Amino acid sequence: MKRGMSRRRFMTSVGAGVTTAAAVAAAPRVARGSPVAEAGRRVDLVLQVNGSRRRIAVEPRTTLIEAIRDGLGLTGTKPGCERGECGACTVLIDGRPRYACMMLALEAEGAEVTTVEGLMRGEALGAVQQAFVEHDAFQCGYCTSGQVMAVEGLLRQHADPSLEQIRQGLAGNLCRCGAYAHIFAAAKKAATLKGTGR
Ligand code: FES
Ligand code: FES
Repeated sequence: MKRGMSRRRFMTSVGAGVTTAAAVAAAPRVARGSPVAEAGRRVDLVLQVNGSRRRIAVEPRTTLIEAIRDGLGLTGTKPGCERGECGACTVLIDGRPRYACMMLALEAEGAEVTTVEGLMRGEALGAVQQAFVEHDAFQCGYCTSGQVMAVEGLLRQHADPSLEQIRQGLAGNLCRCGAYAHIFAAAKKAATLKGTGR
């Protein structure tokens, strides 16, 4: 099964989801003892996060962001809307940006999950984090970890992105403070830092 869902694909599939929800609502009630009725049970799961194998017990309905924050204590990933609209929860799944609020923890098993903590180099900031600091690419900071991860994912695809590629790469990450000009400049600077091996 394809892991997670790209942010763009999620937005375009919302309409289909409404239809599905209506069908589910009309379906007969689930019998006791079925997998759905047992949703409260916990299952053991091994996640590969920031290069480490992490064992965790979750309910099948647990989202990836819940597992990351509440189960593993990695609170750098922020919950915003928690419905696939803002991008605050962005992490990398096998190097690609994904909304952690729109993915079950179970779906991430077997993938390499990277959170903002995983970009650190020991006590030093990673290139994207450093560029955000140098360009004051945040105000309240709530969107910042998601923006950083989206830039990291973008630079793994395009080492020297154009402004248009940066805009498109960050289109799924909203900043209510409107710090976009600084964020775009930081993305450019991060590309330069990465290009020089930092
Ligand atoms: S918290 Fe996940 S998209 Fe807003
Ligand atoms: S810095 Fe406040 S939401 Fe982006």
